[in-house]
Parts: sequence; structure tokens; C-alpha cells
Amino acid sequence: MRLKISQLFFFFFCIVLLLHPSLAQTTNEHEQEDVKRSQFPDGFLFGTSTSSYQIEGAYLEDGKGLNNWDVFTHIPGNIKNNDNGDIADNHYHQFLEDIELMQSLGVNAYRFSISWSRILPRGRFGEVNTRGISFYNNLIDNLLLKGIEPFVTIHHHDIPQELEDRYGSWLSPLMQEDFLYFAEICFKSFGHKIKYWTTLNEPNLFADMAYMRGCQSRVVPSVSLQIQLYEPYRDNEDDQKAVSRALAFQLAWVFDPIVYGDYPPEMRHYLGSVLPRFSQEEISILKGSIDFIAINHYSTLYAKDCIHSACIPGWDRPIRGFVYTTEERDGVLIGDRTANPRFFVVPRGMEKIINYVKERYNNMPMIVTENGFAPPPQQKQQDQQDLLQDAERINFHKSYLAALARAIRNGADVRGYFVWSMIDNFEWIDGYSVRYGLYYVDRQTLKRMPKLSAKWYKNILTVDATSNSNSSNIFKRKNTMSTVSQASKAEI
Ligand code: FCB
Repeated sequence: MRLKISQLFFFFFCIVLLLHPSLAQTTNEHEQEDVKRSQFPDGFLFGTSTSSYQIEGAYLEDGKGLNNWDVFTHIPGNIKNNDNGDIADNHYHQFLEDIELMQSLGVNAYRFSISWSRILPRGRFGEVNTRGISFYNNLIDNLLLKGIEPFVTIHHHDIPQELEDRYGSWLSPLMQEDFLYFAEICFKSFGHKIKYWTTLNEPNLFADMAYMRGCQSRVVPSVSLQIQLYEPYRDNEDDQKAVSRALAFQLAWVFDPIVYGDYPPEMRHYLGSVLPRFSQEEISILKGSIDFIAINHYSTLYAKDCIHSACIPGWDRPIRGFVYTTEERDGVLIGDRTANPRFFVVPRGMEKIINYVKERYNNMPMIVTENGFAPPPQQKQQDQQDLLQDAERINFHKSYLAALARAIRNGADVRGYFVWSMIDNFEWIDGYSVRYGLYYVDRQTLKRMPKLSAKWYKNILTVDATSNSNSSNIFKRKNTMSTVSQASKAEI
């Protein structure tokens, strides 16, 4: 009889567990749907993503000038283990090998950024470095030879130190001239070979992290994301509104002006006259000036209202929409941890954020320019073998891609997906301690080795690759030049 009661208790306990909303969600989230390349539209871009400072190294070679990150990382104590990008992945010298790796993965696109100080060692106050131009021409030509579409970010956090020293870079309106000058050189030098350009990586974040919070280096990206999803902390109206505000202040802040010609109504409502007005001329240039919406998406957090409810001081900041964000509710995490304390594994967030953008911007074409996973620090020291067996990364990409495929099935116009990152690299203030790569990089020898996830990605991309693998130009060309100059004005 005693046994029966305990069995009954156990049975009841299991039912409660299964019915508990947070656990039920976790169970669904971890159900692994199969992902196939054929679930994505023809010409869909499947790529990997990197940025110049994080992989290139060769920090003073062939005429490159110093940039903000060269200087910042050389100040002891700024970066974990005092790491820096002087050598990084030595991609500057090993780019041909890296292109081979990409080809073997079966990707049809590669997103990288151009090192500003390699092209313009002293910004617009010095000469153009022709050896820098040759490096990117070589990179681009070799990618094209292998059938890999180059997808270029003009500015991904690294800025010639000259511009920092002269006027604090983005703190000065003069910086618009610098960016325009740099962008025009990029267009002139590489434009005839490049179909896809993005201007600034995560301006919403670096405005906050670098300028509002006053970090030492002017531009210190968090390793945070461009577009996070939020869910209400409590199921009440205030927290529902907090979610809308958080998304408007983070995402629509940047995209509303360049799609609709003005800051979002939510920002106007809460900030009133503090928010600048665009002139008629600016509106006409801004409105409709982009071809697609680029999304870096990693995580989801809970959002809690800070206007009508008490909040931890510091969270009620306008730049975050007066919203407190947290990963935990009633002692339960929103998703599994990763290396970044603000990134949690919540695959449903991918589908929801895509749907949000689809609704808000009338299903304008979207590209997921970054999505990736780095494992949280482990108790026990991990060796190379542990790091190569990255089943967690596979699960992450599988479930996020499945969520993306669902959004596409429901009509979202998504045209590409880039894994962050192709190889382990310099992860900003975390140095080399955090590894996002599909390829492991040995810090001593710089040898690249495929992790299990690289094999998995290759499998997805090559096993049922049929007609839909060839990337054609998926957008009509617009006047990119004016888009770039005005977008930089609006976003900063
Ligand atoms: C993004 C950055 C990228 C990398 C990933 C992990 O926010 O754009 O450089 O640091 O996070």
C-alpha cells in the first residue's frame, strides 16, 4: 500500500511538472524539428558572419593605422586575460584557407566587415591605403570564384583612432562626413562586385553601451544584440506595454525613420519634445531608403514596466524605453544560459521577432545577419576535445532555424540567415574566452578545426541542396549611396 501511495504521488508530481507553464514551454522549445535547406526559399542566403577586428589581426601591417580597439585592448585590465586583436585569427594572412572552409561548408554567402583604419589609416585626414584596398579585393574575388556572395558591413565597431582623438568619433556630427567618405571609397573600390551592403552594425547598442553608459573606450559594443525579443514579466497591461515600448525604443528607433521617415510614435509619445524632428528634406531622403531589414538576433528577456511600477533604480532610462529587463521569473530562467549573461536560448523568440518586424514593416524583406551560441563557462576546464563536441550549438541552431522556417511558412519574407560565427574569434571584452565559431581555433597554432556543428551545418547545406542553393541578386538596387549617408545621420 505504501508503495502505491508513493507511486501515485510520483505520477501526480509528473503531471504537475508537465502542466507547469514554464516547464511545458521548455519541453516544446527543446523538441527538435528537423531542419532542411529545402524548407527555405530559392536563392536563400545561408552564410556565416564575422567582423574585421574580431578575426583579421595584422594590426599594424601593410599600412593599417591604429583603431579604437587597438588602443582600448592595449590598456591592461580592459579585456579578459588582457587579450587583444593584434593577431586574432590571422585571417589577414589565412583568408584563402578560410574561404576553403566556407566552401567546404556549402555556404553561398559570407558576411564580413571592412576595417576602416586598414583602408583609411587616418580617416579622411590621410591617404587611402592601397594595400588595404587590395586585401579586400583579393578576399572578394576569391569568394566570388568559389560561388560565395560577399555581404559587406561597412562599419562594425572599429574606428580609426585619429577620429577618436580629433573629436570623439560618433560624439561629433563631423563623423557623418567621415563615414560618408569611407563608405564612398568602399563603394568605388568594391561596389561593382558587391550586391549586399549594410552600413552600421548595431548602432542602437553602441549608442547605449558606449555613449550613454560612458565606457572608457568611446565605442564599446556589448556583446549584446541588435534585436532582442521581450515577453511580459507579468501578464498585465503595464508589462504588455513595457514589451511594446522596449521593442519600439530598441528596434523601431532605428528602422522607423528609414522606412517611414520618422521616429516611432511610441518614442514621440514618451519623449515628447526631447526627441529631435527631421526636416522635410531629411524625411524625403530617409523614407524608404533601405532594401531590407538586417536582424542580429540571439535572445529573449522578460520586460517589466518602470513607468507605473517601482523599478530597480537605473532601469528607468529613456534609451531603454523605461523598461526593466530580466531573464528570470519566479526563480525560473527564460531559457538555457549561454556565455553572455544577457543571452538565453529561447528559439520561439526568433519566430516572434520576425513576425513583429513583418507586421510593423509590412513584410519588408528581412535577413538574419547574426545568430549564434557560445557555451556558458564550465566548472571544469574544457579541453579541445570538449570544445569540438558542441552538441549544444547544434541544438541552438537547429531550434532557431526551425523557428525561422515556421515564420517563413507563415508568410514572412526572410531572405537569408548567417551563423555567428564562422570561426572562434576575439569576442570584445571577453577576449578569446568565449567561442562562437563553427570552427575551433587553436590559440597557439591558429589551426582551424571543424566542430560537430560545422559538420551539422554542412550536412544541412549540402545534403538536400538542389535548385535553391544558388544565390541570385535577391533585391533590386536602390540609391545605396544616399541611404548610407542619411542612415548614419538618423541612427546615431
Ligand atoms: C553581436 C556582435 C558581434 C558578436 C556577437 C556575439 O552583438 O555584432 O560582433 O560580438 O554579438
